[in-house]
Amino acid sequence: MAAVELRPRESDVARATEAVVPAWPGRRHVLELDDFSPAEIVQVLDTAVAMKEVLSRPIKKVPALRGKTIVTMFYEPSTRTRVSVEVAAKVLGADAVNVTASGSSVTKGESLLDTLRTLQAIGADIVVMRHPQSGAPWVVASRLDSAVINGGDGWHAHPTQGLLDVFTIRERLGRVAGVRVTIVGDVLHSRVARSALWGLTKLGAQVTLCAPPTLMPRDWLLDPCGLPWPVRIAERIDDALGDADIVMALRLQHERQHGGLIPSIREYSRLYGLTSDRLKLARPGALVMHPGPMNEGVEIAPDVAHGIQSVIKEQVTNGVAVRMALLYLLSGGGAAPFEDED
Ligand code: CP
Repeated sequence: MAAVELRPRESDVARATEAVVPAWPGRRHVLELDDFSPAEIVQVLDTAVAMKEVLSRPIKKVPALRGKTIVTMFYEPSTRTRVSVEVAAKVLGADAVNVTASGSSVTKGESLLDTLRTLQAIGADIVVMRHPQSGAPWVVASRLDSAVINGGDGWHAHPTQGLLDVFTIRERLGRVAGVRVTIVGDVLHSRVARSALWGLTKLGAQVTLCAPPTLMPRDWLLDPCGLPWPVRIAERIDDALGDADIVMALRLQHERQHGGLIPSIREYSRLYGLTSDRLKLARPGALVMHPGPMNEGVEIAPDVAHGIQSVIKEQVTNGVAVRMALLYLLSGGGAAPFEDED
């Protein structure tokens, strides 16, 4: 299948060129990036720059969120998201409480909402949750007084990852507008790809999605106008990489495969794995990204994952700053300086 160039819809063009609007007007939750204005995204990125400065200090501790309680509630495994939120909360002086589904009363049959109501009664100001069911954070957000940050729901959305990806690109290249980003791999099961698409296109990046047809959402193949603009779809990796400034490999999500979507891991890796030879098809010096965790040797070769073009470790580091920014902004933070703690 040749690459399909998608036509912009007028509403998307209007949104992408939206004049600056007041940031965070009445925003209570961070559930997905589709309802963020470009100005809101820029405010997160700018705030994250200030947070990185805090993280570079010898004593990484400010009292910006002193007295606040941040609860992380993860119903699926996580290393990067959960730990970075906890670190972010602690650096900002908040109390961070981690609840795992396996260690909570969920194992005794308590519902998700009852568990979260309990946490709210205990005094959670912000709940950061990950859940295998798409939409679960919306249900919780509509019923709790606490602010809710979606730390990943099913195949649907992972907005904090999308923001840290955009932050990393802007930090490295100095801009997002006009940057060509190729996202290759298991797009079908990737909440990271869905959120990155919104974050990148709202700031004017051009995105190419590449996957075997069985690992691309069927709706997007049938009606690409359902995608944000400008996005194109390519089936062959060689068609997708040319001119890319950024190549983002996605994890092959073994746990979400239902059989028959790929002939074999080996075949998938042969056709879609990001190798150093393939990377040469992108622009010289193109940056390599991956949200992690990686299947090295499957979707990405180890020498590419750890090579000089890789910014994968920076993505993880930037995740702390971006989540600090989100906690701060959701707590009503303004443009206050981040004084050292007394
Ligand atoms: N990228 C990401 O969400 O990683 P974790 O599953 O480790 O949080």
